[in-house]
Amino acid sequence: IGKNIFYEESVESTQKIAHQLAYENVPEGTVVIAEEQISGRGRMDRKWHSPKYTGIWMSLILRPQIPLTKAPQLTLLTAVAVVQAIEEMTGLIPEIKWPNDILINGKKVTGILTELHAEADRIHSTIIGIGMNVNQKQEDFPNELQTIATSLFIEKGEVITRANLIKHIFANIEKLYFLYLDEGFFPIKLLWESYAISIGKQIRARTLTTTIEGKALGITDEGVLQLEDQHGKIHSIYSADIEL
Ligand code: BTN
Repeated sequence: IGKNIFYEESVESTQKIAHQLAYENVPEGTVVIAEEQISGRGRMDRKWHSPKYTGIWMSLILRPQIPLTKAPQLTLLTAVAVVQAIEEMTGLIPEIKWPNDILINGKKVTGILTELHAEADRIHSTIIGIGMNVNQKQEDFPNELQTIATSLFIEKGEVITRANLIKHIFANIEKLYFLYLDEGFFPIKLLWESYAISIGKQIRARTLTTTIEGKALGITDEGVLQLEDQHGKIHSIYSADIEL
């Protein structure tokens, strides 16, 4: 991971560049990193605030030989790798909110966006976007993010060297990815669950079309959230926003 890096000063979105590179069959593990994104994207068509020099904005190309239905597992794997990198670098203990939010003290410090290219029902490549708030000060966040976003600097009170953090993230993704290819999702799932906040709790899941309330039972082997409503009916949630 990260042996082949495209480093850019300013881009629209590293996802967009990584999508183009994926078509050009660059080696697996190729990463696009930018100092700034003009139109960074989040999940569900949201904008991702990506100001210059303060965060880590990068997209990673992986090509696992797995069926499409297993793609969410890579998001969870990446979340574990990022959480461990933050722990190693800062001693802070982040939590994961399904599927991809990494929180510290209840505020979002990192988001992960996994997109893919498919060939029939197989994965051609996955583009894993990681957006991490590293050295922003409180006042650097726009109004609408003030109460929901944080950075490692705000939480730790120290400037964090982004290059070191990136090295930790690469090393951790690589380690977990090889574990995943060798032993499957189970060891990753255990690690993920040990960092997850929503499991066992009463939550509200807002999907694009509906809202379901219930107890989060856990994730399936495919990385799909299982929610039990008040009637005991179990819902499989593939994509949603979770409120605790
Ligand atoms: C989310 O929580 O909604 C996911 C945010 C993902 C942001 C990253 S930053 C690098 C990559 N490029 C983008 O435009 N988005 C992802």
